[in-house]
Order: sequence, then structure tokens, then C-alpha cells
Amino acid sequence: MPVADRVHELRREVSDLALAVPTAHELMETMVKLLHERMLKYNWVGFYMLEPGAQPPMLALGAFEGAMTPHTRIPLNQGICGAAASSGQTVVVDDVSKDSRYLACSLETKSEIVVPVFVHGEVVGELDIDSHFPAAFTAEHQELVQYCAMLVGKKLETAGR
Ligand code: SME
Repeated sequence: MPVADRVHELRREVSDLALAVPTAHELMETMVKLLHERMLKYNWVGFYMLEPGAQPPMLALGAFEGAMTPHTRIPLNQGICGAAASSGQTVVVDDVSKDSRYLACSLETKSEIVVPVFVHGEVVGELDIDSHFPAAFTAEHQELVQYCAMLVGKKLETAGR
């Protein structure tokens, strides 16, 4: 299946999923499984959420699919994850070996995307995806991952965790 069709199909499935599940927690749990299983180059898929009240602010590993990572808690001034959460911007890294911010999760990882999750305009966490393939996150993938992160933000707004 061409990548554009696969992206289109998944977009529909995650939309349906967001309507079908009662909580953001379930949405995140099922979404990471779906993305990991169906997108062959998404080799690690997970959410990091800001710990409520933590000082300094800290990202904590939430629902994920793929190998266990040594980075279960990440301060906002570290990693690509910290960069995305502190700037509120999507970060795409085509070659992680050339990015000094990168915190290694697996030796096989070649590229990464991190998309913030917003609730009422505030960053509350992020969706992080690693690939064993360089430059895996082209514009259409970015759009899909941003769409997924947006659905989680909306679910947190309407249904809570
Ligand atoms: N690579 C991330 C750390 C998380 S692992 O990829 C799961 C980073 O640089 O922040």
C-alpha cells in the first residue's frame, strides 16, 4: 500500500478510536499499539507526559510500544523530547547521530519525531516516535503524528485522563 494511502487509512482509524474509547488513557494505550503495528518504520512509539507539579518540570514515560527505554523521566532541558516540550514545537530529526540533543534509546534508531500534546493551549506531554530508518518522518508522517497528538489533547480536554 502506498504510504499516502496508509497514512489516510490510519488517520481515519485513529479518529474512530478517539470517539470509541472513554478516556485519554485508553486512547494513548491503543494509539501506540496501532501506530507501532501498522507503520512498519515506527519502531518505538510512546507518550511522555509532564508530571503534575514537578519542579523542575519533568517528562515521564507513559503508554509506549517497543523496547523498554532507559529514559523513563526526562527534564525539559534534555533530549529531543525536552526540546519539543519546552518549545511547544514539533521536532523532526532525520539523523539522530548528528543531533547533540539526542538521548539514545536504542542503538538502531536513526530518525525521530516528537510532537507536543496541548490542552487548552498548554503543553501537557508529547508523542515520540523512533525509526530504524533515516529520515522516516516525511511531511505526510508529520501530519499524521500531529493529528494523533491533537486527538489526545482534545480527549484530555473533554474526557480527562
Ligand atoms: N530520544 C529521546 C529520548 C526518548 S527515547 O527515544 C524513547 C530524546 O532524545 O529525547
